[in-house]
Amino acid sequence: MNSMYSLRCVYNIHLKYILKYHVLRYKSNHSCKQEFIVYDQLMQKRRLQSKRSVLVQVCSENSCSDLYKYCSEFGGIKNMFHYQLAGTNHFVLTEFEDQTAVDALLNDSAHIEDSNVIAVRSPFLWFRSSSSKKTKLIMNNDMVQPFKVNEIMIEPNIKTIQFNKVESLSSQMMLLLESIQLNDIGSRLRFLTAIQIENALKGIFPLSKVLPFGSSVNSFGKIGSDIDLVLTNDKTNINKSSRLIYHGKCMSNNSRTQTQRHIELLGDLLQLFLPGCSKVKRISQAKVPIVKYSQDFVGVECDLTVSNETAVRMSELLYIFGCFDYRVRPLVFTIKMWAQQVNITNDTPGRWITNFSLTLLVLFYLQQENIIPPIQTLVKLAGSNDVHITDDGVNCTFLRDITKYSHKQTNSKSLEQLLLGFFEYFAAYDFNTNAISLNFGTVVAKPEYSALYIVNPLEVHFNVSKNVSPEELERFRIELRNAAWVIDSSIHSQNTLQLFDIFKSIEISKNIKKQNIFNYEYQTNTSNRLVTVKDLFVEDEHNKRLNTQLKNSKERKI
Ligand code: UTP
Ligand code: MG
Repeated sequence: MNSMYSLRCVYNIHLKYILKYHVLRYKSNHSCKQEFIVYDQLMQKRRLQSKRSVLVQVCSENSCSDLYKYCSEFGGIKNMFHYQLAGTNHFVLTEFEDQTAVDALLNDSAHIEDSNVIAVRSPFLWFRSSSSKKTKLIMNNDMVQPFKVNEIMIEPNIKTIQFNKVESLSSQMMLLLESIQLNDIGSRLRFLTAIQIENALKGIFPLSKVLPFGSSVNSFGKIGSDIDLVLTNDKTNINKSSRLIYHGKCMSNNSRTQTQRHIELLGDLLQLFLPGCSKVKRISQAKVPIVKYSQDFVGVECDLTVSNETAVRMSELLYIFGCFDYRVRPLVFTIKMWAQQVNITNDTPGRWITNFSLTLLVLFYLQQENIIPPIQTLVKLAGSNDVHITDDGVNCTFLRDITKYSHKQTNSKSLEQLLLGFFEYFAAYDFNTNAISLNFGTVVAKPEYSALYIVNPLEVHFNVSKNVSPEELERFRIELRNAAWVIDSSIHSQNTLQLFDIFKSIEISKNIKKQNIFNYEYQTNTSNRLVTVKDLFVEDEHNKRLNTQLKNSKERKI
């Protein structure tokens, strides 16, 4: 997980610019399409913003005023955000009005006069203290404080969210979303992290473009979650009329070997030359080869891949679904948080369900509720501008501007009802015979054996959740039943329910029992997932109890 840090945001009140955190103000109607921006336009907006920005390390927040004056010499400043990482590192993300100011500032900036340090041009700088008395005097003469400082949380700590101050479970779900959803500053820093690599490669590879994808941009990202980055070639602006063409080398025939070598090379670049990049690990043997590294100035872990265009388009698809209805995001965030808390997901890859698969399950459930459409509806509505086929032939054609999708929302269920509905739906789901297809929005027969089968929405011959073992699926079902039972029994007893009540796993209660008897220590690591025959028996008894409770409560409802 990423290092913990607190973030303060500073904005220039002279500019009367009111900072909007990336928390959507949900309207009481059932759509947030009014605020919808087409994915590629949003990417472009964020990229331009990051090209107008630099990240400057400073001694403390007291340097903000000084830095503001210094940077203003190069052009108008639009925004400044101050944050502090764990320890004493203070940073100011400075956004200019115009990219030319950044170019001028970078041209004027100096490199360290130490032959051991390799000079690199990047948007990451540090602000040395002013040594000249004259400069100090000028600064002191004009000590207007042009900033207002706001403190916001960057690493979500759900224990600090005051769910008890909000009554209904639905409102608590909205509060959870607002508290942990990736915010504006988090997004800016992610795009700047991408720009650092892009700029480093630009000189020799002028078409290279580095884009964040996955939860950083699909609208389901949490503050502090890892950044997925992809290096692609942007061929949109090639001058087709020029008679002079650059010579170039052909790629090798084996694209996988080629990708692995590129990953090794990128790993070296990050490790040897790029400031702030540490803990570089090249995982070139993985199905999708990646370089893992930590960007210390931003305080996040990054996964860099090459030419993974389908994953980018998948992020777009998820982004679109996140914008369809105001209930999609709070439900996805609550389910992801529940899964993390009850220990059925894990940050490391393994035989357990991933956040991505879990998100698809929530979306599938919302298709059953008619809140979002099947993908094939979006494919049918696609216009000529929506046609998109990746270099490796994957058809990613679907309607991209959902304001063009007219549909009267007839489902008015509350978030609480949908949360219970999700748990009940999958607790009773026949995973043995059925696969999940978001393309049709229906269950389909499993084409091959896999404990959990979710048809990959863009590459329909693949199973997104092939990694999930039968044991992990069983744990998932047990936790689903437990959560359904907790909500259901609170409805019948008319007790006010807190989200924290749902976030307690059945395994924890079982382990607490064990602790009392055998003085066992509860561990959240994966070794918990090794069970003895006795444990399985206990589980069975427990399942029986839950099943009876569920059955009884359903009968009561009827
Ligand atoms: P991640 O596993 O990192 O998921 O895959 P995520 O959505 O970013 O969630 P967290 O926050 O890290 O847990 C990154 C992206 O890669 C694509 C999806 O777009 C996903 O969001 N992907 C992943 C696929 O296209 N297919 C897969 O099988 C897995
Ligand atoms: Mg991710």
